[in-house]
Amino acid sequence: MSAPPHAAADAATPGAGGEPAGPRHVAIIMDGNGRWAKKRRLPRVAGHRKGVEAARNVVRAAGDLGIEVLTLYAFSSENWRRPAEEVADLMGLLRHFILADIEELAQAGVRLRVIGEYRALSPDLVRLIDGALARTADNRGTTLVVALNYGAQNELVEATRRLAERCARGELDPAAIGPAHIESELATHGLPPVDLLIRTSGEHRLSNFLLWQCAYAELLFVDALWPDFDGDRLAQALDDFARRERRFGGL
Ligand code: FPP
Repeated sequence: MSAPPHAAADAATPGAGGEPAGPRHVAIIMDGNGRWAKKRRLPRVAGHRKGVEAARNVVRAAGDLGIEVLTLYAFSSENWRRPAEEVADLMGLLRHFILADIEELAQAGVRLRVIGEYRALSPDLVRLIDGALARTADNRGTTLVVALNYGAQNELVEATRRLAERCARGELDPAAIGPAHIESELATHGLPPVDLLIRTSGEHRLSNFLLWQCAYAELLFVDALWPDFDGDRLAQALDDFARRERRFGGL
């Protein structure tokens, strides 16, 4: 085989002075809101509310830490299996987050991007999301990617279907399909691959998150529950990343 893995090409590389560069793209599975609430005998929604606060702090810190892309797993395509009341609470918190925070994020230069089938959410939420996307589209600071109704397998199925359609129309030769074709059809097209994937709450699973994009990601599982995660813990995660030796399959 010829070319080196595409993921290595765009990945974090040493800085100009030879010092290891920080991760360009950090993705987070924000887990543990329910357990945080349970420990305090509070309803689960209280944990999610604290979770939104943690997300707000981490987005701010990401900009200060020079992270180019921060992806947060806010609602998976499997989260619909939760009780309707909890789903409604999560949607309410998302609505509130957009209404309360998007202007400050926009002023800070954050560009919002959403991955996942967010158009299946309620029409008012879709309108709010579209407004927030438009409001921040020209920003050049940190890209905040929020995964909403997202599942990596669905994303790959959709990408495959679109490539197959192009082949069927005679626009694409199946033999010519390579990683770049698949990437161009993913919801994350144009973004660098994930350098660092963090999951909170001590669970060690990927839960159908960015399966393609994490091909060469460093994985970091931390015990802290998501509501207790903050900018300091994100900075610690970057320190941990800086000590990793990334070989991308080489020596
Ligand atoms: C997992 O906790 C968390 C989620 C299902 C995602 C919810 C995320 C937030 C409320 C943060 C929102 C972020 C934005 C950008 C608005 P869990 O309920 O699975 O916890 P448990 O495993 O302890 O029950």
